[in-house]
Amino acid sequence: MSAQVLDGKACGAEVEAEVKAKVSVLNERGITPHLAVVIVGDDPASHVYVGAKERACERVGVKSTRIDLPADSDFSKVVDVVEKLNSDPSVHGILVQSPLPKGMDELAITDMIDPAKDVDGFHPVNLGRLVQGRADGLVPCTPAGVIRLLEWGGVDISGKNAVVIGRSRIVGAPVSLLLGRKGVDATVTISHSRTSDIADVCRAADIVIAAVGRAEMVQADWVKQGAAVVDVGVNRVDDESRERGYRLAGDVHPDVADVAGHLSPVPGGVGPMTIAMLMLNTVTAAESNS
Ligand code: GUN
Repeated sequence: MSAQVLDGKACGAEVEAEVKAKVSVLNERGITPHLAVVIVGDDPASHVYVGAKERACERVGVKSTRIDLPADSDFSKVVDVVEKLNSDPSVHGILVQSPLPKGMDELAITDMIDPAKDVDGFHPVNLGRLVQGRADGLVPCTPAGVIRLLEWGGVDISGKNAVVIGRSRIVGAPVSLLLGRKGVDATVTISHSRTSDIADVCRAADIVIAAVGRAEMVQADWVKQGAAVVDVGVNRVDDESRERGYRLAGDVHPDVADVAGHLSPVPGGVGPMTIAMLMLNTVTAAESNS
């Protein structure tokens, strides 16, 4: 058996088409949604991600402004930039690309972003709304994209056992909340580095969300026949045969495709969904705040 592909490019294109329609409505009211992306330093992967976000903005008609700050910027400089963006009424969404340079307090910056412009959904106000089960917050993009991709693939979530591997603030914790939300209704287990016999925990799952950041950790014999597996991992694995010296690998071993009913690829699965949901959050912020 070969798993049905949870194609993030195709699903993300559908989300982007919805976003475009919403942008047209805003344009008729004289509003152009505007996303500001702040990038501090020269982490190569971050520059690739930010470039992809800028291209998505262009595709859907969202204005983007990129603020590049040098790696040795003072914390106060980043604060200054965020405060200016908070008070600029033409800016609807603010994203400070992670990781920040070593020693810079990422959570302190997150706390500073106006929750109404927090298109990452990482501000405690937006995460708090998620915990409260409210629909009026901005929801983190990757977790929202995972749910949307499962629904797009026709995966039955309600009443099913979902196992999330990883408990990060950005993916594991919020995706667990989204899976267990009223209306989504999975029974959720969060597994992590201290979980005893993680393979056994996974084998009980109808849905596996792998968000751990370890290349190909989820093996074929961890997965129940027909389970839906979403691979959030993007890991660099040394590969001398490639010109760039590495290849990208997810958290899920390729052999899982022989067992799973649905599987998202890396690349082309969750990545495009994250970007599409960021566009949706930016437009939602523009609708709410103008
Ligand atoms: N770095 C990697 N992914 C993300 C993301 O979704 N948001 C931000 N701000 N930084 C990231």
